[in-house]
Amino acid sequence: MAEHEPRARWDVEGYRVVVTGAASGLGRAMAEAMAAGGATVVGGDVDQAGLEAVAAEWQQRGWRLIPVPCDVADLESVQRLFDRAVEALGGVDVAFANAGVAWDRGFLTPGFGIEEFPIELWHRVMSVNLHGVFHTLKAAARVMKPQRRGSIIVTASTAGLRSEPMVGYGYITAKAGVINLTKQAALELAGYGIRVNAIAPGPFKTHIGGHQAWKPEDEEPWRDAVLLQRMADPSEIQGLALFLASSASSFVTGAVFPIDGGATALSQLPARSLGPRT
Ligand SMILES: NC(=O)c1ccc[n+]([C@@H]2O[C@H](COP(=O)([O-])OP(=O)(O)OC[C@H]3O[C@@H](n4cnc5c(N)ncnc54)[C@H](O)[C@@H]3O)[C@@H](O)[C@H]2O)c1
Repeated sequence: MAEHEPRARWDVEGYRVVVTGAASGLGRAMAEAMAAGGATVVGGDVDQAGLEAVAAEWQQRGWRLIPVPCDVADLESVQRLFDRAVEALGGVDVAFANAGVAWDRGFLTPGFGIEEFPIELWHRVMSVNLHGVFHTLKAAARVMKPQRRGSIIVTASTAGLRSEPMVGYGYITAKAGVINLTKQAALELAGYGIRVNAIAPGPFKTHIGGHQAWKPEDEEPWRDAVLLQRMADPSEIQGLALFLASSASSFVTGAVFPIDGGATALSQLPARSLGPRT
């Protein structure tokens, strides 16, 4: 094997990539990893102004983002996003089902215990974090099956792998759901040359949950829950995104990758920190 070949396996030059939630945080960082590698990105987001700002910034760097307003909770909107990608680029090689929200809170926050958890909020979180991923998988499969090729990457969470007291009931359930959805889709789509994998991030400093800037005191509980004792910068997702998008991961499908500073290797918080017990 020629010396340059292992590195060439990470190449995404010329790839046609769709990213949901591309205006911010992990979606934006993963989109940047693709664009910097020479891919063209079609970004979908409910935040149209945010998408336009990314597109304008990228233009200065010679990268290409096609911004498309998209609400992943709406199947037709997601199908329009993929239709736009096919119309502009002729196909889709990689799809990131990434958009997500954390509108709910963990049960230690007043009003979010199981008996009072707002049912309305449960449905809203499901509509984006669970249904949104299903819609994106459906739309991606519709384009990729006839191509007999593709890689789909779902953004799950460590909260989908285990209980996490700081995370809401809706969020935790949706994230567990997308992990099995990933495996089931991998099962069906393997025969069509399409790989489907999930990433399970731990705490990253993004705008999730309405955060604008992360203050040291906001970071503290998350830092304590991570072996590396810090939160991550969104750019730290990029290596894994490149791996799963490119042929570096050609034998990987149906897998779930924690990227969490060791959070899932740590045992859970002591039970007494969860409040009074009878
Ligand atoms: N930040 C973390 O610590 C963390 C940890 C685990 C998993 N995640 C997951 O990562 C993904 C990205 O979140 P983030 O942390 O980058 O947050 P973020 O808020 O910075 O970015 C999320 C993006 O998704 C968009 N979005 C929200 N609802 C949408 C919808 N209905 N349709 C289309 N776009 C929509 C937002 O406008 C935003 O641009 C989510 O699925 C989230 O659950 C984040």
